[in-house]
Amino acid sequence: MRRDEYGPWARRAVAWGEDYLATLRDRPVRPRTTPGSTAALLPDRPPEAPEPLEAIFADFERIVPDAMTHWQHPRFFAYFPANAAPVSMVAEILTATMAAQCMLWQTSPAASEIEGRMVAWMADALGLAGFTGTIQEGASAATLAAVLTMRERTLDWAGNADGLSGAPRLRIYASAEGHSSIDKAVRIAGLGQANLVKVPTGPDDGMDPEALAAAIAADRAAGHLPAGVVVCVGGTAIGAIDPVADCLAVARAEGLYTHVDAAWAGSAMICEEFRPLWAGVEQADSIVMNPHKWLGAQFDCSIQFLRDPEPQIRTLALRPDYLRTAGHDAVTNHSEWTIPLGRRFRALKLWFLLRAHGLEDLRARIRNHVAWAGELHDALAAEPHFEIATPLRLSLFTFRWTPPGRDPDAATAALARAINDAGTIYVTETTVRGRPVIRFQVGQFDSTRDDVMAALDAIRAARDTLPCAP
Ligand SMILES: Cc1ncc(COP(=O)(O)O)c(C=O)c1O
Repeated sequence: MRRDEYGPWARRAVAWGEDYLATLRDRPVRPRTTPGSTAALLPDRPPEAPEPLEAIFADFERIVPDAMTHWQHPRFFAYFPANAAPVSMVAEILTATMAAQCMLWQTSPAASEIEGRMVAWMADALGLAGFTGTIQEGASAATLAAVLTMRERTLDWAGNADGLSGAPRLRIYASAEGHSSIDKAVRIAGLGQANLVKVPTGPDDGMDPEALAAAIAADRAAGHLPAGVVVCVGGTAIGAIDPVADCLAVARAEGLYTHVDAAWAGSAMICEEFRPLWAGVEQADSIVMNPHKWLGAQFDCSIQFLRDPEPQIRTLALRPDYLRTAGHDAVTNHSEWTIPLGRRFRALKLWFLLRAHGLEDLRARIRNHVAWAGELHDALAAEPHFEIATPLRLSLFTFRWTPPGRDPDAATAALARAINDAGTIYVTETTVRGRPVIRFQVGQFDSTRDDVMAALDAIRAARDTLPCAP
């Protein structure tokens, strides 16, 4: 494509997007496609000669949309949302067009300074006074950065210099409700899965602080080196929330570095009434929340807040001569805070989103999601032969179908599949304490109350197709 062809084709792409968004509600949320069917439509070898844009675009329309799961569908109730408020899409078009590489202040000064200001705005919006931070591509990256910092701080930065051979066993603590990104982080950090201690949870599925203290004491007695605690606020499976203040108090008394994973639930903390759920969070060293999950910023946009960035910068920064910002020692080079060197201009979409909606509108959406999830929860609890498996936490709960005379595990799993195969809504099939449940969350930016209540009809309709219907 020549540069002078960019405008017409970009306009055509935007026009396609306009139509896509307007008709999204009429599409099945999850595609009716089978593994390998898209790949089968693509030639085995790349073209040697240029192909006309008309043909490329036509193939996009023919092959892609019907084989996609539509994350922006207002009846997407699976996983957690990966949102894209329209205004953040506009910002992403601008970001893509400038194709800025924001590794250093001098490689994109505006990006670097807007990133700093957006982190400060979000700290203000979330009640995290005194925190600074950086924008990462995801919570997994932030958690890995935090785990590496736990490792290096505990070893007085000898791990980076000398490697880990000969070092005592470093121990990281999290509950079993913690996300698998913690497991991945301990593996990548070279600590080993066996040194991620899964601390028992209490009856409300949150980490038991006494069990945490006991695990740390036992590890010290065994000659291990406790290094850090990852506290969960809004776990992925059932929205579990650790008692933040108590867990952080145990960790701080032991001199351990702490990271709070609020990847999903963090967005809700723009509403003051939800902040008791993470009371005490200001004592954390590091906190991650994903504005792309529930706030409306287009995927990807994850903020890692840091009370003091120095330990993480000392862990991650490398400053070869070609990466120096000569004459500007006071500037922030965000690549020194994160693992990748090259960085996208993610702050722009947050700037557009926060300004175009304002916090009041964003709060109203989250409050609505929580209220509507509560309505659906109550309706299902009142429905014959349905039971709530785990309680409503913010906008997430799980349920089971228990028709009389049938195996409830098989019935629940069959119902989840029937719901998703029908395609009107999309839910997640998972297990709680080894037993199948259907997991439901509300968080898509454009979901309405009707969309959420339509889920009740979709669940009933799917139930009625099953042979084990009462
Ligand atoms: C609680 C929690 N933490 C971490 C992650 C990983 O997030 P990311 O995909 O941004 O790496 C997820 C993903 O859903 C999550 O739900």
